[in-house]
Amino acid sequence: MTPSASPDRYAVMGNPVSHSQSPAIHTLFAKQTGQHIHYEAILVETTAFTQAVETFKQQGGRGLNITVPFKQEAWTLATQRSTRAELAGAVNTLSFSDGQILGDNTDGVGLVRDLQHQLGIDLQGQKILILGAGGAVRGVLHPLLEQKPERIVIANRTASKAEQLAELFSSTGNISGMGLESIPPIAFDLIINGTAASLQGDVPAISSGSIDSHTCVYDMMYAPQPTAFMQWASQSGATLCVDGLGMLVEQAAESFYIWRQVRPDTGPVIRKIREQMQAG
Ligand code: ATR
Repeated sequence: MTPSASPDRYAVMGNPVSHSQSPAIHTLFAKQTGQHIHYEAILVETTAFTQAVETFKQQGGRGLNITVPFKQEAWTLATQRSTRAELAGAVNTLSFSDGQILGDNTDGVGLVRDLQHQLGIDLQGQKILILGAGGAVRGVLHPLLEQKPERIVIANRTASKAEQLAELFSSTGNISGMGLESIPPIAFDLIINGTAASLQGDVPAISSGSIDSHTCVYDMMYAPQPTAFMQWASQSGATLCVDGLGMLVEQAAESFYIWRQVRPDTGPVIRKIREQMQAG
């Protein structure tokens, strides 16, 4: 490639999207790996997603990340889907190739990589509690089950949604669904908050008995300061409480790999984005 050639175009589409860290993350990946790309955030009207993807593709765009509220629509739009996108029921990565729209979902692998590689957690044989039963939780269940935990308990404010989700994945491992008030009275090895409660500074109503000093607590949300759930968990005795910034960078790295066949080193990027967020 000559230095003057235009960069390959990528973007994240969402609504809202101005807060997205994806442009900063992919720009750091590109710099680190010497890839000639341009990555931007595109705000899309909630009724105009299909048209926005089509326009981006016609303008020569190579791939997209998709965030709230378009992940299900992206799943429908994809002409081919990976197995993990199929199981997640949602697509966060689109690639345009030979007239096809390839849909993938890198959220679950992003969470598993962050837990394993950045935090050194081995999920095999663990007792895992997952709070929430929306799209974010569905997206990570299969990759978590693949790691062969002893059991996964999904607990949700609306019990029926957790029961349905557990049923959907019941052939893959030991998984059960219930209301927040029915969580078994044991200390879990890992608790993952996949609810939207942290967005409102709220904490799902669970007993502190689910936590002891060995419990790792993971909030899929991220913020410059510890989330309300992380604060509650550390007051309840958890010694390792982390937010979802590492998952965000890891899912981005998997998308980057799909598009460029190059795997960035995520550790320095997580640290840099954390520094930038904290500097405001
Ligand atoms: P997402 O796609 O991000 O998962 P969603 O599908 O709207 O979003 O799901 C949001 C999840 O957060 C749900 O599990 C929701 O519980 P309900 O199914 O009972 O609505 C959960 N949630 C949102 N606010 C909550 C709160 N304040 N306390 C507990 N759970 C909450």
